[in-house]
Amino acid sequence: MSELPYSIIAGSGSYLPGDPVSNEDLAKQLAQQGIETSDTWIRERTGICQRHIAAADLNTSDLAALAGERAMADAGLTAKDIDLVIVATSTPDMIFPSTACFVQKKLGIAQGAAFDLQAVCSGFVYALSTADLFIRMGKARNALVIGAEVFSRILDWKDRGTCVLFGDGAGAMVLQSAKEPGILGHVLHARGEYENILRTPGVVAHGQVQGNPFLTMDGQAVFKLAVEVLESSAREVLAQAQLSTDQVDWLIPHQANIRILQFTAKRLGISPDRVVVTVDQHGNTSAASVPLAFDLARKDGRLKAGQTVLMQGVGGGFTWGAVLARLTR
Ligand code: UT7
Repeated sequence: MSELPYSIIAGSGSYLPGDPVSNEDLAKQLAQQGIETSDTWIRERTGICQRHIAAADLNTSDLAALAGERAMADAGLTAKDIDLVIVATSTPDMIFPSTACFVQKKLGIAQGAAFDLQAVCSGFVYALSTADLFIRMGKARNALVIGAEVFSRILDWKDRGTCVLFGDGAGAMVLQSAKEPGILGHVLHARGEYENILRTPGVVAHGQVQGNPFLTMDGQAVFKLAVEVLESSAREVLAQAQLSTDQVDWLIPHQANIRILQFTAKRLGISPDRVVVTVDQHGNTSAASVPLAFDLARKDGRLKAGQTVLMQGVGGGFTWGAVLARLTR
């Protein structure tokens, strides 16, 4: 076991590509293809006002490296200090090598392991938990953990039920070994029996894409399950750390729909002003949503040392999880 048996969040960073695309602009673009939607529908059903869409020449690893670079700088570290890179993504640059290997190369990191983690919108919480375990076992000292996506590339822009919901972006954290705990606990879950309610089923085989390469979703089934498991996983991780919901300073759930965030907060008895909300500005950025929200709230001064933060992921698989952290800087 390591003589530094805990991990702390030593730094964070994020990156959003290009100018935001407003609901009005998106509705105009979709209208040109005969698809009808409106700012009112999107805003009322989801809380989304705008999203960012990466230009064609930017890949997930570009967004991830930019966010990762900022997190490393924030932690006061350089490439030679990082000994683990985990990228949570469902939109990798290629089938292989992993996006994490591209990030390692782009940032000039030349030691330690690098791998991708695929748990869709729960990906960052899965990756952060994994990095914490590496550190607690003494297998890494400074882990760069990134959630990065270009979901715009797997959307069917003729399906108004899904294409208005998602956006591109990346968020990153440096998790560092420490004497005192920063990460207080985590819980991860999956229920594969629900694999069909949210999926991108297409695969590359025999020289072509086989099956539908676009995201498909049973929105209402996802909504119902999400609200349930966000509550149960929050209670589970808090019980593990012997804390109550009153002791949570900030709730940072996966940003899919403002109504899901509001239901979760209400069920947990956490007031809306203690919930970090970015779904209005970013849309649903899948694995990037939690670290993007974390970084935004940290940089605007809401998140402070000494506070307790509950981060939650939920999404395709069906997967979900929660990480409870005490901020030390
Ligand atoms: O990261 C995790 C993944 N995602 C989620 O967590 C999403 C969870 N689900 C949701 O957020 C919601 O279910 C949605 C926002 C996706 C949909 O909201 P809803 O209230 O469940 O709407 P609905 O799918 O029942 O559709 C209601 C109506 C339908 O019209 P009819 O059949 O009532 O005439 C849709 O065709 O809204 C229509 N509609 C739209 N209208 C304008 C669906 N999409 C649009 C649109 N613009 N973009």
